Amino acid sequence: MDSSIFNELRAGLTTASAEETRALAARLAAALPPGSVLALHGDLGAGKTTFVQGLARGLGIQESVTSPTFAILALHRGAGKTLVHVDAYRLDGARALEDLMIDDFLAPPWWAAIEWPENVADWLPSDALHLELGHAAAERRHTLRLR
Ligand SMILES: Nc1ncnc2c1ncn2[C@@H]1O[C@H](COP(=O)(O)OP(=O)(O)OP(=O)(O)O)[C@@H](O)[C@H]1O
Ligand SMILES: [Mg+2]
Repeated sequence: MDSSIFNELRAGLTTASAEETRALAARLAAALPPGSVLALHGDLGAGKTTFVQGLARGLGIQESVTSPTFAILALHRGAGKTLVHVDAYRLDGARALEDLMIDDFLAPPWWAAIEWPENVADWLPSDALHLELGHAAAERRHTLRLR
C-alpha cells in the first residue's frame, strides 16, 4: 500500500495542473480504508471537485464526477464501491444533511468526500480527514495540505 501519500500531503505540496491534482487524489483513494470521510476545504475554484474526480478514478469508478449546479449529493458507483460526493455549499448545518437521508443509501464499502465541510461541521465524524486546497501565486498552480 502507498502510505507515503499521507506524508506527502501532510507536508503540503503544489500541483501544476488539474491532472496532477487528480493523480494525487487517486493515490490517496487507493490508500484510504472504506468508511473514510474526507473534508475538502478551500475557496471557489480551489480544486475540490477536481480532487473528487481523482478519488473516483483511484477507487476504480468510471462514472464521471461533475460539479452539478443544483445537486447537493451525488453517489458514484463502480467496482463494487460507492463514492459519496457532497457539495454542502448551499447547506446550513447537520440537520440539512441528515434530511438527505444519506445513511439510507450507504452500502459498504463506501468513501465520502465533502465540499464546503464548514457548513456541516457538526455532521462530520471526529476521524474525518481534512484537506486544505488553495490557489498558489502562479497560474494553474494549486496547493494541497492534509491537516
Ligand atoms: N493544479 C490544479 N489543481 C486543480 N485544479 C486546477 C489546477 N490547475 C487548474 N485547475 C482548474 O481549476 C478548476 C478547479 O475547479 P474545481 O471545480 O475543482 O474547484 P472547486 O474547489 O470544486 O470549486 P467550487 O467551490 O466552485 O465547487 C478546474 O477548472 C481545474 O481544471
Ligand atoms: Mg466544487
